[in-house]
Amino acid sequence: MTLGSPLFLVGFMGCGKSTLGKKLARKLEVPFLDLDDHIEEREKESIADIINNRGEAVFRLLEAKYLRNLPLKTPIVISCGGGTPIFHGNMALMKESGLVCYLKYPPKTLYQRLQDSDRSTRPLLTQLSDEELLRFIETKLAEREVVYEEAQLIYDFSAQKGGKPLEYILASLEKPCTD
Ligand code: S3P
Repeated sequence: MTLGSPLFLVGFMGCGKSTLGKKLARKLEVPFLDLDDHIEEREKESIADIINNRGEAVFRLLEAKYLRNLPLKTPIVISCGGGTPIFHGNMALMKESGLVCYLKYPPKTLYQRLQDSDRSTRPLLTQLSDEELLRFIETKLAEREVVYEEAQLIYDFSAQKGGKPLEYILASLEKPCTD
């Protein structure tokens, strides 16, 4: 299978975009880029520090700027930040440039994954108690899901009955486009 344009992975924090992105890029034999890592390298500052010191609005502008500066006409797997599709017309831009895949997980699963992860790297979550974390996920996901679901491809964990996102996406890429 050859990828002709970028494949963007989107979804809520904790859905596994970066881990999956690396595996997909290896399978598809194309470069991989994690947008958060790219911003940190270019800005020489962690995402946590950018958001805490300069504010979320500045981070969203940087996210939109660096997304637009990527090689969007070449095959590449790009893992986005959880908020990337939500701001500054980024979802439309990504859909025009390539294939956007939403990794859809229910709030409880995201909660379990995020509880097990290092939350200090996720400034939107660091101050939250466990109970607040679950409420935050439910509320934010409900707000964002309408945009996430504009993706051309959706891996729905609840519908997959054990099917893994890697295999699902690779199989979907093999299918002829019916649009
Ligand atoms: C964010 C998600 C983070 C990072 C930033 C904001 C969000 O990326 O971009 O902390 O608004 O959902 P991950 O989804 O990779 O954790």
